[in-house]
Amino acid sequence: MRILSGIQPSGRPHLGNYYGALRQYISLQEGNESFYFIAAYHALTTVQEPKLLREYTLDVALDFLALGLDPAQANLFAQQDVPEVTELAWILSCVTPMGLLERAHSYKDKIAQGITPSHGLFAYPVLMAADILIYLSDLVPVGKDQKQHIEITRDIAGKFNQQFGEILAIPEAYTLDDTAVIPGVDGQKMSKSYGNEIGIFDEGSILKKKIMGIVTDSVPMEEPKDPEISTPFLLLKLVASPEEISEWEARYKAGGMGYGEVKKRLLQLVDESFAPYRERRRELKEDPNYVLDVLSEGSKKARSVAQQVMERVREATGIPARKR
Ligand code: ADP
Ligand code: TRP
Repeated sequence: MRILSGIQPSGRPHLGNYYGALRQYISLQEGNESFYFIAAYHALTTVQEPKLLREYTLDVALDFLALGLDPAQANLFAQQDVPEVTELAWILSCVTPMGLLERAHSYKDKIAQGITPSHGLFAYPVLMAADILIYLSDLVPVGKDQKQHIEITRDIAGKFNQQFGEILAIPEAYTLDDTAVIPGVDGQKMSKSYGNEIGIFDEGSILKKKIMGIVTDSVPMEEPKDPEISTPFLLLKLVASPEEISEWEARYKAGGMGYGEVKKRLLQLVDESFAPYRERRRELKEDPNYVLDVLSEGSKKARSVAQQVMERVREATGIPARKR
């Protein structure tokens, strides 16, 4: 089975990215042929500071490796190293109905957040479809909020195949149903664009400040509280053992528990859970060429698949073959 997924280098990954996405990608590397890439073209729709984009692209690759992505099992590469993707994106644009893109939630959400709409932001799902379809991917692990983009990809592939012949594979989305949307420190969905994230590699006083600063309600300490609407509890559920989760649940419901106490424990657990990854990242960072070598190897394999598919796409659409 061919697995593919991408992550935007629009900031450093946070706990929402890890539990909603990265953890699943990494566990799928075993026993499958997998392609994971850093989507800088997608990030450019929102990050338009060259220095930052460059830094994040390498940082995110390093993060992936520190979290356990194994280059011996999976291909890790950068989106821009397979230029056929942007070529396919244009061709797919020509079979993509406007209405399909106009219905995209993520576009509407981003505009609602105040991001100035560009054509790139609007066409984002078409580029994402090209990312997926160019490798004839079977399964695309994504967080719940990206599911609609996979639906759009399936529709675009169907339109293409209907018009030009059965060339593109129709992919399936893979999401873990029990992975809820993970809240950030303000209780909204954790997201880089809301500035409410807890970074996977945060540590020391920064981590402490974020966790101790989680917004909670003003229910008095003595009164019973509903754990399922409480951000510290929802985050604790990600890192604590099942027994410990039940204990905290009972304490919330009984009353007499302050939020400071649960936050302290959360801090300890988050810190412990990610300490080995932070350590691994420090080790990997010592050799600056390591990440570049991994990305270069990964892109060779990805590009050879992409070039073959693009040849068939050009042939089918009547775009003359490129002179070599
Ligand atoms: P952000 O919203 O921080 O920019 P991205 O859109 O880059 O995050 O998301 C990368 C991946 O992480 C996606 O597959 C997305 O579904 C998942 N993800 C992001 N935020 C969350 C969250 N709060 N809860 C669960 N999954 C999330
Ligand atoms: N849009 C995805 C996100 O924000 C990132 C992405 C780009 C992606 N291309 C992709 C994910 C292709 C899966 C497949 O999370």
